[in-house]
Amino acid sequence: KRLVLIGPPGSGKGTQSPIIKDEYCLCHLATGDMLRAAVAAKTPLGVKAKEAMDKGQLVSDDLVVGIIDEAMKKPSCQKGFILDGFPRTAVQAQKLDEMLEKQGTKIDKVLNFAIDDSILEERITGRWIHPSSGRTYHTKFAPPKVHGVDDVTGEPLIQRKDDTPEVLKSRLDAFHRQTEPVIEYYAKKGILAQLHAEKPPKEVTAEVQKALS
Ligand code: AP5
Ligand code: ZN
Ligand code: ZN
Repeated sequence: KRLVLIGPPGSGKGTQSPIIKDEYCLCHLATGDMLRAAVAAKTPLGVKAKEAMDKGQLVSDDLVVGIIDEAMKKPSCQKGFILDGFPRTAVQAQKLDEMLEKQGTKIDKVLNFAIDDSILEERITGRWIHPSSGRTYHTKFAPPKVHGVDDVTGEPLIQRKDDTPEVLKSRLDAFHRQTEPVIEYYAKKGILAQLHAEKPPKEVTAEVQKALS
């Protein structure tokens, strides 16, 4: 399957991705995760992306399209993929269609993590992540066994630099202005599935499974 996950910051894309990935043997391509790794490693890409990310603005289309074009060539992605956080602009959506057309494939389904903005601040400010695996926790909704420590590896958890109420406002603004048109684009193609992303994680998983069956 070739899937796209769209939703505002904190809507649960990164939480549901590993579950979908395991069930359908897909690769998980999250542009945010890839960009954060590039920033941490101070690669030329990371240096270019950092300023926009810190401000909660979108990185340029050319940079992210380049990352995705490269990543989709990986052998682990040949059976299918989950795009988490891409495409986020109309230009990115068009470029993605062009890339897939060259390979003779297309997107099968787009999952829209629909949720009210008012719920997202609590989700974002309570989030803790294990950077190397991408595992995500929440102080209230999904706490680790030991505060600040990853359940699996025992390594420390961190909070994302952009997970503050101030930066969240810019991220939401970018979502409504630049990403909502992408939802419309896929609705017109008839491949959009709506999720109630405000529900508890297990119920969202059930909706995802229903949408993909
Ligand atoms: P990115 O990393 O993609 O961030 P985002 O879109 O803001 O999404 P998040 O990762 O914050 O949310 P999520 O939906 O994954 O939530 P999660 O499952 O973790 O992008 C970061 C930046 O990179 C962008 O601002 C931009 O600068 C740049 N960028 C990335 N892609 C780009 C692109 N294509 N073009 C241009 N720039 C790009 O859940 C959040 C929390 O809630 C967790 O703590 C979780 O445990 C909890 N939770 C999850 N589900 C539930 C639930 N159902 N009930 C209760 N709690 C829940
Ligand atoms: Zn995420
Ligand atoms: Zn809106």
